[in-house]
Amino acid sequence: MGFKIPRGTQDILPNQVEKWQFIEQKAKEICRLYQYKEIRTPIFEHTELFARGVGDSTDIVQKEMYTFEDRKGRSITLRPEGTAATVRSFVENKMYASPQQPVKLYYIGPMFRYERPQSGRFRQFVQFGVEALGASDPAIDAEVISLAMDLYRSLGLTKLKLVINSLGDKESRQAHREALINHFEGRIDEFCSDCQTRLHQNPLRILDCKKDREHELMATAPSILDYLNEESKQYFEKVLYYLDQIGIQYEVDANLVRGLDYYNHTAFEIMSDAEGFGAITTLCGGGRYNGLVQEIGGPETPGIGFALSIERLLAALEAEGVELPITKGIDCYVVTLGEKAKDHSVSILKELRKAGISSEKDYENKKMKAQFKAADRLEAKYVVVVGDDELDKGIANVKNMESGSQEEVSLDELTSYLKERV
Ligand code: HAM
Repeated sequence: MGFKIPRGTQDILPNQVEKWQFIEQKAKEICRLYQYKEIRTPIFEHTELFARGVGDSTDIVQKEMYTFEDRKGRSITLRPEGTAATVRSFVENKMYASPQQPVKLYYIGPMFRYERPQSGRFRQFVQFGVEALGASDPAIDAEVISLAMDLYRSLGLTKLKLVINSLGDKESRQAHREALINHFEGRIDEFCSDCQTRLHQNPLRILDCKKDREHELMATAPSILDYLNEESKQYFEKVLYYLDQIGIQYEVDANLVRGLDYYNHTAFEIMSDAEGFGAITTLCGGGRYNGLVQEIGGPETPGIGFALSIERLLAALEAEGVELPITKGIDCYVVTLGEKAKDHSVSILKELRKAGISSEKDYENKKMKAQFKAADRLEAKYVVVVGDDELDKGIANVKNMESGSQEEVSLDELTSYLKERV
């Protein structure tokens, strides 16, 4: 007998959690530098939010949501992504009225999608994402991309590729949409059923189809870049100009289509180029969503953001063989000999920990030798040895585990002695 973890989820065990914490800490630090503030929204929302926000015609809404009825019959969905909820909160809390614009937010938390699990694809995964709301300035597009790149690079990734496209404004998209429909309509019966539905719903998504990727009409499909009106073209050029200016290399790919409906103007993905990285190479995806705030009931407000999963980031680190500089070991292990010393060690540990010295002791009545072994296993920098005799004299023996040197230290001064050294 025994319970098994649900498919597509994972336990993150203590030795792995250290990496997660390190990455999350880095992300938070970079957000502080860029002045993005954390927002925490619920894990579940009303289903309608995602239908509206992410888009009815997307795979996420049609096939991948964890949706259920609560006890009052309301339709609830575990969030599949963070943008819709962030925008909901932005509107609900009238952040558009804040004097400080744009409103720059970030989140780190679990998202849920009922997808076919494979390497790099989970049913519960953790996204780190940022959203900048209230500015339609190409410099903020470049800033958001730069923030994502900074995170990857600061962790040691080098094999990265930024792919960027413009989906244009409403007018450009409309012109392109018509061109796409004309292009595919005559031979749409040669495409999969998904593409057939997409033809009038969202023909752009046909370009993203995995099944019909090789169809000859794909390669000759009209490119959005040929349909950008002057304003959209200028906007995109300015984004690229800023990226050049801050030294971020990119590849323009007119076929880059994102899987969510809310995008316009800038759309981008960051991929891993590392050899041996699995089939899914997209580490991060994002873009501009100028109509979304209105769609969710707020005033006309531009927005842009991205999200990346920690799972794929870790996979990329592994593919590149990057070891995160996680500090191992503890400051001090207290070894005791005799009943009185054992009892007293409880107060010694309390003192040490109060002073910020990470410390541990034995709780299993181990012999001295085994206690030293435990100290080794925990990679203790110092071992404090207290026997009943020492205790009577008010001293302890302190061993520096790296150099092997030993010193007698008065118990009264033990904390300050170690504090100076760790
Ligand atoms: P997305 O492209 O659906 O965009 O997801 C963004 C990132 O989340 C992906 O690049 C990938 O790193 C990660 N991801 C997605 N699905 C999975 C999965 N099943 N397992 C592991 N990782 C996954 C969004 O979610 C948008 N909200 C991004 C955005 C923010 N656009 C503007 N603002």
